[in-house]
Amino acid sequence: MHLNEALAIENAAVQRLQSRIKQTRIENVKQRLQVHLEETKGQQNRLKQLISDLGNGQKNAATKDKAQLPIPTPPKSLTNIFGRMMTSAESELKAAKEDAIVENAEIILYDMLTRLAERMNAANAIDILSQSLSEERSMADWIKTNMPDMVAQLWPEIEASIATVEGE
Ligand SMILES: [Fe+2]
Repeated sequence: MHLNEALAIENAAVQRLQSRIKQTRIENVKQRLQVHLEETKGQQNRLKQLISDLGNGQKNAATKDKAQLPIPTPPKSLTNIFGRMMTSAESELKAAKEDAIVENAEIILYDMLTRLAERMNAANAIDILSQSLSEERSMADWIKTNMPDMVAQLWPEIEASIATVEGE
């Protein structure tokens, strides 16, 4: 059940990473997301394999179901303002923030799954899940480390848009 939930999250994550890669204008972000897309496809395949190894037929079959990723929605009062005023630099920041939230949610999930697998003495599952856990951790760490650079790169555009609004 937990493995199927993880798979549904990775199914959604693959789709989200593909659209992020198309959308971002920041070259090193694009490259890192591309690496993580390949890792995520590996995680997806390992989960499918694990589910079918442990599974008892249809009931536990691996699926193509997609989970809703934990991305916050802004309060209604702000949605319209965001829609009207968000520059592409601000959309980049928003997406980077969402990347970090998704990766950290995956860390929590794999950390818990690894501990459950340890309790069950499921050696194969422990290996698979801890590999995914370390890939998620390194992605989340990269986002955190790269954040100052990204803000520095986007700041001139954000600063200019603030000046425009204030000058109106
Ligand atoms: Fe991930």
